Formats: sequence, C-alpha cells, structure tokens
Amino acid sequence: MHRTTGTTRRWDAARCHDSCRAGRTRDTLGMADHLNLSADDVLMTTRSVRKRLDFDRPVPDDVIMDALDIALQSPTGSNRQGWQWVFIDDQATKDRICEVYARNFATYRSMPRATYAEDDPRTLAADRVVDSAQYLADNFAKSPVVLIPCLEGKPDAATSGAFWGSLLPAVWSFMLALRPRGLGSAWTTLHLINGGEQEVADIVGIPFDTYSQGGLFPIAYTIGTDFKPASRLPAREVSHWNRWGQRSR
Ligand SMILES: Cc1cc2nc3c(=O)[nH]c(=O)nc-3n(C[C@H](O)[C@H](O)[C@H](O)COP(=O)(O)O)c2cc1C
Repeated sequence: MHRTTGTTRRWDAARCHDSCRAGRTRDTLGMADHLNLSADDVLMTTRSVRKRLDFDRPVPDDVIMDALDIALQSPTGSNRQGWQWVFIDDQATKDRICEVYARNFATYRSMPRATYAEDDPRTLAADRVVDSAQYLADNFAKSPVVLIPCLEGKPDAATSGAFWGSLLPAVWSFMLALRPRGLGSAWTTLHLINGGEQEVADIVGIPFDTYSQGGLFPIAYTIGTDFKPASRLPAREVSHWNRWGQRSR
C-alpha cells in the first residue's frame, strides 16, 4: 500500500504547481508566440544559432521553464533523472564563464582542422562554421541567459554511453523546444577542456567532484525565425545493413 508522507505531499504539490504553471503557459501565454512548426520541421531546422542570437531581447523565465518541462520528458538510464540545470543571467558571472570559453576556443582554433574531400558538405560549410563560432566566442556573454546542464556522477569509459545518454537527449530536446518558441541556442563544449570545467564549476558553485557538465549553451530569441535544413552526409552513406560496410539490404 502506498502511504503519502507529509514530505511526499509537499513535493507532489510543488511538482503539480510547476507542471500546471507550464501547462498554463503553453495553453495561453506561450501559444501566441508559438511558430506552429511540425515535428519534422523542428527537427530539420534547429540549427546552431550564433550570429542570429538576439542579445537585446530579454528571455522570460516562464519560456525557459516551459522548454525545460518538455526537455525533462527525455529518457534517463534507470529513470534516474540525475540532472541539474544551471541557468545564468548575472552579467558578471556570464563574463567570467565566457572568458574561459573564449580562451579555450582560441586554443581550439589554433589547432589543425579536420579535412575532407573538396565537395564534402563539411568542407563547404567549414569556413562559415568557424566564422560563426568565432563570433559566438567573442560575444557569448551577451546572451541573455546561458545554460550549463549537469549530471550527477563522473563518466568512465565503460559507462559513458549510459552516462551521457541520461543527459544529452534532454539537452537536445531543450534546444528543439526553444525553436518553435522563437528562441535558439548552440551546442558548445569547449569550456570543458584544459581545466575549464573545474574553473566554471568554481565560478558557479557546481560541485565538481560529484557533477559533470554537459556543455555551455547560449539562450536567446533568434533574429528572424526562418532556418533551413543543413547539408549533411546522405543517410545511405552512413548506414549499414546486417554487416558493417553493407550499404543496402
Ligand atoms: C558535441 C558537440 C560539441 C560542439 N561544440 C561546439 C563548440 O564548442 N563551439 C561551437 O561554436 N559549436 C560547437 N558545436 C556545434 C557544431 O559546430 C555544429 O553542430 C555543427 O557545425 C553543425 O551545425 P548545425 O548545428 O547548425 O547544423 C558542437 C556540437 C556538438 C554536437
């Protein structure tokens, strides 16, 4: 038999309040600004937004919580839900975090780039991506909000699939949920290298020994809402049937 303790009741009430608030936002406030894209359109047009982040338009908490409520529907190993979502809008704190990012980005940029065939979509996009990434590195702290998604634990080689699989689907869902709301983000991880994860943990107070950071994400309304599908390697070129290397049935 299930007994509801006082603590459980309080927790359930808080949870109900949160989801009711999210529901109300979706039904009333949120829908006015909703782009009404199909699921396929959202999946095809959620790009890394860097140059089109609107640094001047504030992002209301409710919009972020609404997108997060959706993201939290993602699966986690053993339904653990060991995630914590750190949103930062304090300018001085954003400045310090984004300095770490910019320093690491400069190191990354000085390293040799991967090369592909001349007509490969990755070659054709490379200069544009680097230019856009440099812009983000130079302007990251102007984002109205930045997000650091965290997961309890530290991955090891054997369990890293299950570990990151319990955070990153939700992070991507969060980015997808921003898109129909007229907001955008960009997946970034460079702050984590060269001791940066520890530095940022210290700046924000994330318990470094017990939590891992998944990345650093700008959150802003986008300048315009028309985004296109990207050019990618075709599905046939990256799929295998029954045996590695067998491209069709
Ligand atoms: C794991 C991962 C790490 C990434 N790290 C960075 C990063 O540190 N900085 C950055 O500007 N973009 C980063 N990106 C974004 C990629 O550059 C981007 O997804 C890619 O160029 C394709 O562009 P699109 O997302 O607009 O389709 C990262 C993406 C992923 C999935």
